[in-house]
Amino acid sequence: MAEGSEVKRANKSYESISLQEVIKKVISSPLSTHSKDIGCGQVSEELIGKKIKLAGWVESIRDHGGVKFLDLVDMSGKVQVVIRPSNIPSEKLPELDEIGDFWVLKIEGKVERRPEGTENPNISTGKVEIIAHNFDILSKSEQPPFSPKDKKEISEEIRLKYRYIDLRREKMRRNILLRHLVSRKIREFLWSKSFVEIETPFLTKSTPEGARDFLVPSRIYKGKFYALPQSPQLFKQILQVAGFERYFQIVRCFRDEDLRADRQPEFTQVDIEMSFVSEEDIMRTVEELIRFVFKESIDVELQIPFPRITYKESIEKYGTDKPDISIPFHIQDLTKIFSQSKLDFIRRVIENEGKVLGFGVKDIEISKSKLVSLEREAKSMGVGGLMWFVIKNSQVSASPVMKFLSEEEKKSISDICEKNGVVFAVAEKEEKARSTISRVMKIISKEFGFYKKGFNFVWVVDFPLFSYDETEKRFVSEHHPFTSPKEEDIAILESDPLKVRARAYDIVLNGEEVGGGSIRIHRPELQRKIFRILNLSDEEVEERFGWFINALRYGAPPHGGIALGLDRLVALMAEEESIREVIPFPKSQSGICHITGAPSEVYLKQLDELGIMIKTEEKENNK
Ligand code: AMO
Repeated sequence: MAEGSEVKRANKSYESISLQEVIKKVISSPLSTHSKDIGCGQVSEELIGKKIKLAGWVESIRDHGGVKFLDLVDMSGKVQVVIRPSNIPSEKLPELDEIGDFWVLKIEGKVERRPEGTENPNISTGKVEIIAHNFDILSKSEQPPFSPKDKKEISEEIRLKYRYIDLRREKMRRNILLRHLVSRKIREFLWSKSFVEIETPFLTKSTPEGARDFLVPSRIYKGKFYALPQSPQLFKQILQVAGFERYFQIVRCFRDEDLRADRQPEFTQVDIEMSFVSEEDIMRTVEELIRFVFKESIDVELQIPFPRITYKESIEKYGTDKPDISIPFHIQDLTKIFSQSKLDFIRRVIENEGKVLGFGVKDIEISKSKLVSLEREAKSMGVGGLMWFVIKNSQVSASPVMKFLSEEEKKSISDICEKNGVVFAVAEKEEKARSTISRVMKIISKEFGFYKKGFNFVWVVDFPLFSYDETEKRFVSEHHPFTSPKEEDIAILESDPLKVRARAYDIVLNGEEVGGGSIRIHRPELQRKIFRILNLSDEEVEERFGWFINALRYGAPPHGGIALGLDRLVALMAEEESIREVIPFPKSQSGICHITGAPSEVYLKQLDELGIMIKTEEKENNK
């Protein structure tokens, strides 16, 4: 595998973009309206001596011996306004003393250079100030529940309930403007490559992407439902049949699934589809798109092509299909070393087809207390324990299982680190061992400075087409049922489904899946065959997807595409832990829209119109 894309930021170390930098890229024309000549952040030295009018919010107000200094802020930034009582009409004086934070003012005044020593290098207007000669109060503000300037932690519920206050915080303004900038650059790039932006329906029929649907009852056809799209998958494929060879859409998708930091019930995809393509065409287009967007929006130069790793290699080396290539360690299979172990639990694991997986970190010293806390972390993931072996001068010098180790085992373990270091290992069922050891790898690389900073993209390819769902006792699609198998694996579709590889690819950034796509099935017979393997009856297929398979009968070109998760991409660019930080009005972790209180009850009349009756828990219990 090639090295990860290095980050080169012109004259900057790797750090997230500032509000000022984003404003500079986004706000390129004067914010002039009836009430203002220019935006607050747009007042420059060139205007010194000129009379101007401004309008915005009071971010802070200070009184110095009767003279008011206030920061007036709007979308373009802030500027200092000086109000001397002697300069303004006397009838305005009583109002002057009332002004508080977040009041909305219109100011008329003259731009002047700030006296020497009072400049503020941290803001774009730091060399000037407005000497006001009049003001109008356009709106007052009550004391908000928290201040956008507060540095202290505010509960997420309060932040979301008063999102309009929260969105005034510098970080949130930066995030929302950055999101806008990224969308704009995506459009610019795709338009320049002749992609056509086409909308697809929101009120539609279920498309399987692996989650539950949000349903919308029909009033006209009582008892029938629309489904909100989990993605525009089938519509974008149909657009290929219709001849729109290069389609894209920045589109909202809806999935009723358990929420996490990187999941929302409604989220945004950059959805792309192209005809007459191979995997390479899609991957190259996406690489160029991402390179353009990173350069244009946050001044980061990415090297393309991004490295590629097969699904198998990713699972083996990183224990996951979302490999974080910023981690410099790889999982090693140590089962052989321990095949004659004196430790009962290891022997039991191996007899039950489990594995001993581990990794070594060379030239590192880790305190005993840290090793113990790592073991605790591993146990919290449901494994029996985490073994560690301290290597000094090519010898195992300490380990909780020291007395059970044979000389041969010690030698093989110490070889992993050559001279000095620490080896970690977990003996468990394979999947559990992989996920646990990969978590330990991540912690060690982050806490001990091994983690490669930057934006490390990688493609994961050669996914299996199916996996086996033990609870449903049937094969399920790894991506979705419209993904094409590799041509050379079609022959074993029915005889050995789990060996069939998909023409699918995921794009992963620093261990987070930011996109996924595939070359599609464009032949109706093959599509029907896949549904059969998925254990869908012909009637079910006809009822759910007949309309789509029908379309494939009328000259469907070979085609493929991808969808990028816009929220995840922007969150990573902004170095935010949760996508909620880059969504203006997200749902809370428990799926609530705190600003409106949704989901909420509706009037009985509305339910009647829809022919719906609510089953209360009480009634259910009485059944
Ligand atoms: P997939 O299901 O992989 O593919 O989704 C594409 C990308 O969308 C993002 N994503 C989400 N982001 C936030 N909240 C969610 N609940 C959520 N679910 C998914 C991820 C993911 O990689 N139709 C296919 C694409 C295709 O084949 O073209 C699809 O939707 O970043």
